Amino acid sequence: MTSRPASERRTILVTGGTGTLGAELVSRLARGSHASVVVLTRGTARPRPAVPPNVQMLTGDVRCGPTFGLDSSDAATLREHITDIVHCVADTTFNRPLAEARATNVAGTQAVLAFAKECQHLERMACFSTVYVAGRTTGCFAEQDVGGADGFVNSYEQSKAEMEAVVRDAMRELPIAIYRLSTIIGDSRTGEVTGLNAIHHALRLLYQGLAPMVPGQETGLVDLIPVDFAAKASHYLFEHEFSPGATCHLCAGAAGSATLGALLDATMTAFERYRPAWRKRSIARPAIVELETYELFVRSVEEAGNQVLLQATRAVQAFACQLAYPKVFDNRHAGVVLARAGIAAPNVLEYYDRVVRWCVEKNWGTAS
Ligand SMILES: NC(=O)c1ccc[n+]([C@@H]2O[C@H](COP(=O)([O-])OP(=O)(O)OC[C@H]3O[C@@H](n4cnc5c(N)ncnc54)[C@H](OP(=O)(O)O)[C@@H]3O)[C@@H](O)[C@H]2O)c1
Repeated sequence: MTSRPASERRTILVTGGTGTLGAELVSRLARGSHASVVVLTRGTARPRPAVPPNVQMLTGDVRCGPTFGLDSSDAATLREHITDIVHCVADTTFNRPLAEARATNVAGTQAVLAFAKECQHLERMACFSTVYVAGRTTGCFAEQDVGGADGFVNSYEQSKAEMEAVVRDAMRELPIAIYRLSTIIGDSRTGEVTGLNAIHHALRLLYQGLAPMVPGQETGLVDLIPVDFAAKASHYLFEHEFSPGATCHLCAGAAGSATLGALLDATMTAFERYRPAWRKRSIARPAIVELETYELFVRSVEEAGNQVLLQATRAVQAFACQLAYPKVFDNRHAGVVLARAGIAAPNVLEYYDRVVRWCVEKNWGTAS
């Protein structure tokens, strides 16, 4: 790789730049630098308003190999200009068949890495991962840990761990940092949720009184982060503290997390506050049970054959089982660097109420 002439602008390729994280990152990258930003997606995600003039949208698919299905001369022109890559594309559904999850998360990442190797002016690349590559591990999970020794709770975790192995291999040739995010729950300022995930589906089940129990422990910590922190922290690390070969945890950690019991209490309180009629339904706080008991409940839902309940329970199950493997994510490397810049994840209980309020008042994004 050769450095670009100082007179030339940076061109940053952001794969998945319309997603929950990607959209926030793109606006920061486009705003904060004199760079051109190229966003690569399949173009199926919800359109985002107001694309700044230095952002170009490209339609492609990382599952199509290193040209992403672009015309070969367009791909060559792109390779010629790219100085930075921020790889956000992922299949973030927790319960896909493993082969499908791998097609985007592993093979798709291999395609982006093969593309990167052909970029003569590439200076740095970030690959986004999840702290849940830890899988079924319990206790402390650190930035240098690889995870997966005890297996995984779902195909998403497994495919992201496999993705990391591929990325670490490519680090021998390319300047790459891995940014592992904790679960994004919403915007800490507004409560807005731009991408519903299993947590929000679980909240809806609780609201509907369809989740009599959750697995886990009353005192187990649940690590959640707001999207504004995820974008601000990763943008800062990428732009100002880029460290090739590093793996950084962008998470709430012990200080910013709440216990499962406290989160359930906060959920019930917010339901009552923002939908007073909900109180009349006398829905009890779900019991926190052993994983075996929860799995028995899931089996009984399957046998009962109520399709609505079954689909909802399955969507939540792939995440809920993770609660039975309590862990704390150690973020001392990234945490120290970010603290110097005054960036830290807020404690989830400082903004959680706003997220639940958004879910209730916007009916989980279906109300205008
Ligand atoms: N959100 C979280 O809670 C969370 C937590 C931990 C880690 N992460 C990681 O952070 C990164 C960003 O996550 P996110 O939540 O922003 O994801 P997301 O909201 O699901 O967005 C995925 C993005 O990738 C694009 N995409 C998906 N498949 C594609 C393909 N085959 N080819 C090209 N583009 C494709 C999507 O647009 P189209 O559908 O239009 O293609 C969209 O822009 C991922 O690596 C994820 O694993 C996220």
